[in-house]
Amino acid sequence: MSQVADKIALVVQDDPAKIAVARQVRIKLALTPTERAEARQLRRDVFCTEQGIFRDDDTDAIDAIALPIVALLEDSNGSQEAVGTVRIHESEPGIWHGSRLAVAQHARRIGSVGSGLIKLAVSTAHAHGCHAFLAQVQSQNVPLFRRLHWHSLSELDIHGRPHHLMQADLDFYPPISDGDIGFVLARNGTRGEP
Ligand SMILES: CC(C)(COP(=O)(O)OP(=O)(O)OC[C@H]1O[C@@H](n2cnc3c(N)ncnc32)[C@H](O)[C@@H]1OP(=O)(O)O)[C@@H](O)C(=O)NCCC(=O)NCCS
Repeated sequence: MSQVADKIALVVQDDPAKIAVARQVRIKLALTPTERAEARQLRRDVFCTEQGIFRDDDTDAIDAIALPIVALLEDSNGSQEAVGTVRIHESEPGIWHGSRLAVAQHARRIGSVGSGLIKLAVSTAHAHGCHAFLAQVQSQNVPLFRRLHWHSLSELDIHGRPHHLMQADLDFYPPISDGDIGFVLARNGTRGEP
């Protein structure tokens, strides 16, 4: 079992059966109805219940055109649980955006799930001809994005919260065109086994 899976297993240590089968976190495009539904539920948990930015549902017009990405905690018995999500979309030729980045509370800061989602988001857009990848980042997350080779373009107030408009350095995000399979997080949060 990888170190990442060990750390993930620690968060379910109250359930010995779950520890025994916990295996890995896979980052991939959310293609199945179940993956998409779990990603949307996770967004509601984070942006409605936890942060209170939206009342009941954070769905908007971008969801009709965006590609959703999901982080799946995969067990050896074949069961899966969505523990993270983000979405990407192209607003004009070559200009891509990431939004609604969310990781389940029990999966944060233990296995670089958020960093893995950002990697597949930017690298998938790069494979689709992205020239500029942008995101409106909540200010408390700016250090994380800076470490992942993003820079701040301006400061904004969105939904009454301070944000930075940030841009990814595409040199650090080589194109990934097999997002349907995605990748398994390695111990340092980089792309692991396909
Ligand atoms: C922001 C968010 C997506 C980050 O998800 P995450 O899975 O915790 O992200 P990572 O693990 O890749 O990195 C988060 C931090 O954990 C650290 N970390 C990563 N792997 C680690 C590990 N194995 N051990 C200890 N720390 C680790 C990272 O260095 C980073 O440090 P920082 O907090 O000082 O920046 C998550 O906190 C979240 O969903 N927050 C609520 C919603 C939100 O703010 N969305 C983003 C809007 S812009």
